[in-house]
Amino acid sequence: MNFKKNILCIGAGYVGGPTMAVIAYKCPQFRVTIADINPARIAEWNSDELPLYEPGLDEIIRATRGKNLFFTTDIQRSIRDNDIIFVSVNTPTKMFGAGAGMAADLQYWEKTARQILQYSESSKIVIEKSTLPVKTAQAMENILRNAHSFTFEVLSNPEFLAEGTAIKDMENPDRVLIGSRETASGFKAREELVEIYANWIPREKIITSNIWSSELSKIVSNAFLAQRISSINAISALCEKTDADIIEVARAVGMDSRIGGKYLNSSVGFGGSCFKKDILNLVYLCRHYGLNEVADYWEGVVKINQYQQERFTLNMLTAMFNTLADKKICLFGVSFKANTSDTRESPAIFIAKKLLEEKAEIIITDPQALRNARTDLAGMEGRVSFIDDPYKAAAGCHAIAVMTEWDLYRDLDYQKIYDTMIKPASLFDGRNIIDHRRCHNIGFNVYPIGKPALTHF
Ligand code: UDX
Ligand code: ADP
Repeated sequence: MNFKKNILCIGAGYVGGPTMAVIAYKCPQFRVTIADINPARIAEWNSDELPLYEPGLDEIIRATRGKNLFFTTDIQRSIRDNDIIFVSVNTPTKMFGAGAGMAADLQYWEKTARQILQYSESSKIVIEKSTLPVKTAQAMENILRNAHSFTFEVLSNPEFLAEGTAIKDMENPDRVLIGSRETASGFKAREELVEIYANWIPREKIITSNIWSSELSKIVSNAFLAQRISSINAISALCEKTDADIIEVARAVGMDSRIGGKYLNSSVGFGGSCFKKDILNLVYLCRHYGLNEVADYWEGVVKINQYQQERFTLNMLTAMFNTLADKKICLFGVSFKANTSDTRESPAIFIAKKLLEEKAEIIITDPQALRNARTDLAGMEGRVSFIDDPYKAAAGCHAIAVMTEWDLYRDLDYQKIYDTMIKPASLFDGRNIIDHRRCHNIGFNVYPIGKPALTHF
């Protein structure tokens, strides 16, 4: 079959996989290829057991794979055969040298740029999907400028999808942002990408900007979202001291239409691969430009998030008579949020490690993320176990800590669970999703976030 366009994405991860699958699904006239250096990951994408859990993804992959969506490790050939290349490789926080722990590690991204240069045999549009520090496109251009007889146009098209709702977000986004150089060739490339998205997204939702605004908007959007969570979490600590209720406060504050009610759920802290990484990236960038006050301001968002997780662990310790040694604690959920198998930066992993330092025994249950959690906690076997069934996981434990807001945990038979636990049984609700009063009546000592504890002492 002759396809109208050949589109490649380099990087078959949480962003590249779902994003490209939706493009293939919405645009059967295009041939979409996803290439990755990791053969195991590509084999999983080509199997019935996808490498990540994302609601709705299975169906879309089944409908498109082998028709107009292809997964491959052949990066050389893919680059040669495609004119439009999305780059969606990982850009984690750098863990060595200058900027360690703050700056973005651009080594995978730069290797990709060099591969594109090496294997291209014609002019191409290269699109940054990975989150990158502002001005990275310039480095990409400087690498690609070294081609002899053809040209590259670099665009920024940041990803705003959230895990767990990635398919929905791609099908019906708030906005699509495309940044380009403000030159004739930049505008032309920009329009070509607008045309792709316009296959299913209303034009008024596809916004364009200069390339630096686009790069920066991605980081700033994440910083604002994370800032709201840190704001409400900071207030949750005050609520616990003053008998105010964070849910009531969030509702009252969020009903002001100037503020809005979203991202005001107090929690054990935000996780995921983006928020912390992007803010640290922003902080690093501000310091680089000598904007220390601005850097300090945003760094506070990350500090509060750290504080919230530490506070939660300390509250557990205090509530359980200041010793956790040899106590069995069951974590309900280990993914960083509901409806994903992703455990990157998950507060549950941080808290599990802290509890292990206190010599507790940890039992982890989760409907999708146990495989990743096993990898995250490798080397701690013996003190950590993984059990699919939450009833079996909680049996014989001194406490349950709800880490992830999976719907499943709202509706469990907590009487049945209580009956199998060691007494006094504690329930720490790091997501405020359980019926606290009911569990207290059953006999639990209940410790929500940002609300007075309900105990039997
Ligand atoms: C985020 C952005 O939402 C998305 O636009 C961007 O493209 C990538 O980063 P993601 O990290 O997948 O997406 O999930 P998100 O739903 O934003 O949640 C991030 C973290 O904040 C999770 O740990 C979540 O549980 C937590 N959270 C979210 C809260 O604690 N309270 C809230 O009210 C909302
Ligand atoms: P994200 O959440 O941003 O999608 P992931 O880590 O899930 O991040 O995915 C990034 C993917 O990019 C990984 O599967 C990794 O193997 C892949 N990758 C990294 N460098 C290259 C490269 N040079 N060529 C192809 N794929 C790459």
